Amino acid sequence: MADKLITVFGGSGFIGSHLVRHLAAQGWRVRIAVRDIRKALFLKPAGDLGQISLIPVSITDPAGVAAAVQGADAVVNLVGVLYESKKRTFEALHEKGAENVARAAMAAGVRRLVHVSALGANANSPSAYARSKAAGERAVAVAFPSATIMRPSVVFGAEDGFFNRFGAVAQKMPVLPYFTDAIPHTPGGGGASFQPVYASDVATAIAAAVNDPHHLGKTYELVGPRVYDMRAILDIVNRETMRRRPIIGLPYLAADIPARLFNVLRTLVEKIPPVSLGAPFLTPDQVVQLRLGNVATGVLPGLEAFGIAPTAAEVVVPTYLKRFRPIQQTKRLRLQPRNG
Ligand SMILES: NC(=O)c1ccc[n+]([C@@H]2O[C@H](COP(=O)([O-])OP(=O)(O)OC[C@H]3O[C@@H](n4cnc5c(N)ncnc54)[C@H](OP(=O)(O)O)[C@@H]3O)[C@@H](O)[C@H]2O)c1
Repeated sequence: MADKLITVFGGSGFIGSHLVRHLAAQGWRVRIAVRDIRKALFLKPAGDLGQISLIPVSITDPAGVAAAVQGADAVVNLVGVLYESKKRTFEALHEKGAENVARAAMAAGVRRLVHVSALGANANSPSAYARSKAAGERAVAVAFPSATIMRPSVVFGAEDGFFNRFGAVAQKMPVLPYFTDAIPHTPGGGGASFQPVYASDVATAIAAAVNDPHHLGKTYELVGPRVYDMRAILDIVNRETMRRRPIIGLPYLAADIPARLFNVLRTLVEKIPPVSLGAPFLTPDQVVQLRLGNVATGVLPGLEAFGIAPTAAEVVVPTYLKRFRPIQQTKRLRLQPRNG
């Protein structure tokens, strides 16, 4: 396999870095295609000398994408954004960008394409993110019918934007809020349900799809072994950060109104370059996604199709949420005798 080449669009990101390490360990030559190659330099040591190369490209640029897939045996597209900004729209990246990659891969005679979409991708979803992911899947299926489509649920791992975000809230705020349509502390009042999946399991599945023709033309829902409502997720956060914050259920309006106000402000500020308000804590579309939850339909195959036993959040999350513990707890743990 040492002479096989794979191009990974979005290889420097959260899932991408797990995947690149995985592919390099399997002996692939990996070409990481991202806009800013400096952000991918940390992955070079994951391979032998020359095994991992970097190419600066935006998937919005068809000519650049064509150059990035030239000579590749396989291609993986991991590019996606959680919120839109002036140039980085869902349509440009999730739909047109995905189409650029699929078309270029087909034209270059690439044998395997794995497209990473998202659980809940649906043309009729109330979420713009989910609709754009569905549009991307359609565009890929037209341009490259044998592509494998992966729909991961919320992904967890040391660098995730999910548990870490709640960990930071637990560290900085006196309470841990979640949102619910029902009465908190009653059955069904724990907020929407999620089925988080481990980043390394997602990477293993993508690598397996690239290697095995059995997965051609199929769509998979990649989810973890357990379903948690938001309250249960915050219970894990409270336990692992040792913060013991009161967990309070609020109506979705409490998230929606500030998200909308910040969105209006961000749109206005974006008109005065180079001023930027940075990443929004929560966009109105993310509030919609939170309300929908993110659980497998059960209709499509999952990690078991790759022979993977999904890892539970409780196994991995404690290893990285401890960074949000109060300093005295961390010191006390360090001072405890190992066998005592
Ligand atoms: N993380 C999750 O919980 C989750 C759940 C479901 C689905 N997904 C999907 O999985 C995929 C990967 O997610 P992730 O969490 O790993 O994302 P991430 O950490 O934000 O990484 C995104 C990657 O895409 C690159 N990128 C962004 N815009 C680009 C462009 N125009 N052209 C080329 N590269 C570009 C980024 O590098 P540069 O900025 O340097 O270009 C980065 O390497 C996404 O499609 C996401 O929607 C993620």
